[in-house]
Amino acid sequence: RLPSRVQIVDVGPRDGLQNEKQPVPAEVKVELVHRLQAAGLAEIEVTSFVSPKWVPQMADNAQVMHGIRRQPGVRYSVLTPNMKGLEAALAAPREEWPDEIVVFGAASEAFSQKNINCSIAESIERFAPVVVAAKAQGIAVRGAMSCTVGCPYEGDIAPAKVGYLAGLMKGIGVARVDVADTIGVGTPRKVQAALEATLAHFDVDAVSGHFHDTYGQALSNTLAALQLGVWNHQSSIAGLGGCPYAKGATGNVATEEVVYMLHGMGIDTGIDLDALIDAGVFISQALGREPNSRVSKAVRTK
Ligand code: HMG
Ligand code: MG
Repeated sequence: RLPSRVQIVDVGPRDGLQNEKQPVPAEVKVELVHRLQAAGLAEIEVTSFVSPKWVPQMADNAQVMHGIRRQPGVRYSVLTPNMKGLEAALAAPREEWPDEIVVFGAASEAFSQKNINCSIAESIERFAPVVVAAKAQGIAVRGAMSCTVGCPYEGDIAPAKVGYLAGLMKGIGVARVDVADTIGVGTPRKVQAALEATLAHFDVDAVSGHFHDTYGQALSNTLAALQLGVWNHQSSIAGLGGCPYAKGATGNVATEEVVYMLHGMGIDTGIDLDALIDAGVFISQALGREPNSRVSKAVRTK
């Protein structure tokens, strides 16, 4: 039985833009967030408090958080890989704090090293105090799990490795987790196996899908996740993005594609597709390109 409602987190402002080579002004990022919330997105991943040497595009994190006009009912999240990141996120006045922080680990040792410069075990040690400190301030905590199907350095990843990481995340008090196909190599049964390994540790309400579309499988994988009852999904407006530490990986599945599919299936998202498409056109124009969404193109040429 499929869920009757899906909650989408648009990760475009963060995952979508983090790998963008040209500088994107903070005002453009803020305007994107405003357009996403106006389109009905109730969760937006805004930015990352990571090293600006590693990810220069996210160096304006505080400026972006400062610029956002908060809309009641919307949850704003940011990535914080360590205490330094959390402290930076909380250095602002309380009304600019994120509602949720994201610690991000990987099911693959090699990817963990490349992405956050430490082993899986070390990453969990770093995350643990971040989780405690965030919760003490009433901030929700999500855990992103990269390379749950395949890794650019290690190849196929066994579901047992995903289960192992999910167990570690659970152990340090992470409330919910994202099962990410970082390089978009997954196909429906493999993605289901990664999700099932996670569901051994987390309730279905606490698991979300985060599928990159490198091989054009992300929408199919989203449907495969829905078949397991997973109703939290992450996607990127206009299909923006890629990970700087996963060469050649393209963006997440376009939010427009996911919303079109869900509405066509009678599944509610609370999102206005036309306003969403406009938001995608806005950011794509700012980047000087066409939206990487076939739904957007089809609707606009109708
Ligand atoms: P490190 O070099 O091991 O950190 O980096 P360190 O603690 O040794 O510190 C080195 C320097 O970085 C110091 O500065 C620190 O102050 C600074 P220096 O003294 O040299 O001037 N530093 C920081 N600066 C700002 N914010 C911080 C911070 N921490 C240390 N939070 C670190 C470790 C994690 C910081 C680094 O590896 C990093 O920033 N990595 C970025 C990783 C990233 O953002 N990747 C993309 C997001 S994850 C993703 O896209 C996957 C996802 O979408 C799911 C999926 O699809 O798979 C979530
Ligand atoms: Mg990602």
